[in-house]
Formats: sequence, structure tokens, C-alpha cells
Amino acid sequence: MNAPRAAIRVTDVSKRFGGIVVAENVNLELRSGEILGLIGPNGAGKTTLFNLICGIHTPDSGEIWLRDQPLSRVPVYRRARLGIARTWQNIRLFPTLSVIDNLLMGPRRYPGEALLAGIFGARTRRADAQAARERAEEILARMGLSDARDKTPAELPFGQQKLAGMARTLMNDGEVLLLDEPMAGVEGQVYETIRQVVRDEASAGRAVCIVEHNVSFIRDLCTRAVFMFNGCIEQSGTMEELLASDKLAELYFGGRS
Ligand SMILES: Nc1ncnc2c1ncn2[C@@H]1O[C@H](COP(=O)(O)OP(=O)(O)O)[C@@H](O)[C@H]1O
Ligand SMILES: [Mg+2]
Repeated sequence: MNAPRAAIRVTDVSKRFGGIVVAENVNLELRSGEILGLIGPNGAGKTTLFNLICGIHTPDSGEIWLRDQPLSRVPVYRRARLGIARTWQNIRLFPTLSVIDNLLMGPRRYPGEALLAGIFGARTRRADAQAARERAEEILARMGLSDARDKTPAELPFGQQKLAGMARTLMNDGEVLLLDEPMAGVEGQVYETIRQVVRDEASAGRAVCIVEHNVSFIRDLCTRAVFMFNGCIEQSGTMEELLASDKLAELYFGGRS
């Protein structure tokens, strides 16, 4: 029997910005229930790969698939609605909105939206708004952010801003979760919370990909990792295998001492 189709498949994707190659023949599979680590030095093209998957950039060549659906003609907002959720390296909350309103403004998944809204109209929209609020409260509680609900992002310490950014992303409970450096600048309880949430999302069957420089975090959580350099996927395997690689030691850690 064939293995189940990956949630996301990147096939032979290349992308240039002017003269800079940011993705070169990238092939990648992200499977349901797995936590895939994406590592590599700054400028390797990790965030760009997320941008290609979620539709902010279009590949020059190659294709990205959500299950059996090619995504190249699907705009970014629709990819979100199809269930591709991502966080941002620089958080990106609305500064003048409260935390809970940030969640309610976040991209969500709308299964069957057009059909239901067409048939039931305003009543469906009210029920939907109520469900969204309940879901937001639930996520805030999970993140330990219930008390921060009515604050603006600037009123929160950095770690809580990071949690709020992730909470906003979790409003989209689709199949795919892309996390861009979720651990950068956080420690202690916030670190533990993020770790637990990532685990729980994968256990619930989501396909999770994490860009992260924190090697122990990747080793702890990821079943598989890929190493990216100059727009190319240089190597993939378990984190142990990657750490044993001389090439990675050279390109990423500056050589073995
Ligand atoms: N919108 C853009 N226009 C031009 N160059 C870009 C753009 N986004 C990223 N780059 C370039 O692409 C390369 C990869 O960047 P990025 O994907 O942010 O790397 P990483 O996330 O691995 O640090 C860098 O050289 C960066 O300067
Ligand atoms: Mg980046």
C-alpha cells in the first residue's frame, strides 16, 4: 500500500529575488502528525520557504501541494482558509487591538462558509462570531493568557507577545502549522507553554514545521529535520544524524573544534 499523502508537498520549487537564489529545487514533504524541524543559518531561505507555502511568494518553477491540490493559483488568504496557518518571525500583532481582538481578527479556517452563510445568513454569522469568541477564550486559557485578554500587545512582556502571536495563529485549526522561530527570545514558562502546545497540535494530527535555531528544542520535539543553506535543502534526517554531519557542522556551526 502507498504511504498516506503528505499534508504539504513541495516539489522542485525554485525562486529568485533579482540575482539572489532563495530556493533552488526544493523538495519537501510535511506529514500529518509530524513535527519537522527546518534549520539553517540566517539568510538560508527558511522564512522564504514558509512564504512560498503560504502564498506570499509564488515559485518561479515547481509546485506546492496541499494534499492533492496544487496551490500555485490559490491566493494567500484562501490558503489560510484551506488550513495553512503560520506564525511570523516578528510576531505581527495589531498594536491598537486587544489580545482577544487580535485573535478574532486572525486568519481562520471557514469550512463550508459560502454555502452556510448563503442559506442561513445573519443567524449563521452570529453563531459563527460566538463560536470564534469561545474558541479564542479557549486558546487564551491554553496559553495562560486569559488575564491578558483585554490588554494591547505593547502592554505585555515579550514572551507573552510571542504567545499571543501563536494564539492568533491557532485560531486557524487547519491541517498545517508553520512556526517561524517560535522560541527566539523566550525562556522559562513561555518556553514550556510553546513546547506543550506544539506537541499537542501534532498529537491532534496537524502537520507542524518549525524554523528554529534552538537545537535542543528541535532535538527534543522533532522526529525529522532538514538543513537548508543558500536556498537548498542540503540534508535531512533525524536531528542526531544532522548533528553528526560534517557539512552541517561546517556550514551552520562554523566547523568542529
Ligand atoms: N521579499 C524579498 N525580496 C528580496 N530578497 C528577499 C526577500 N525576502 C527574503 N529575501 C532574501 O532571501 C534570502 C533568504 O531570506 P530568508 O528566507 O529570510 O532567510 P532565513 O529565514 O533562512 O533567515 C536572504 O538573502 C534575504 O535577503
Ligand atoms: Mg527567517
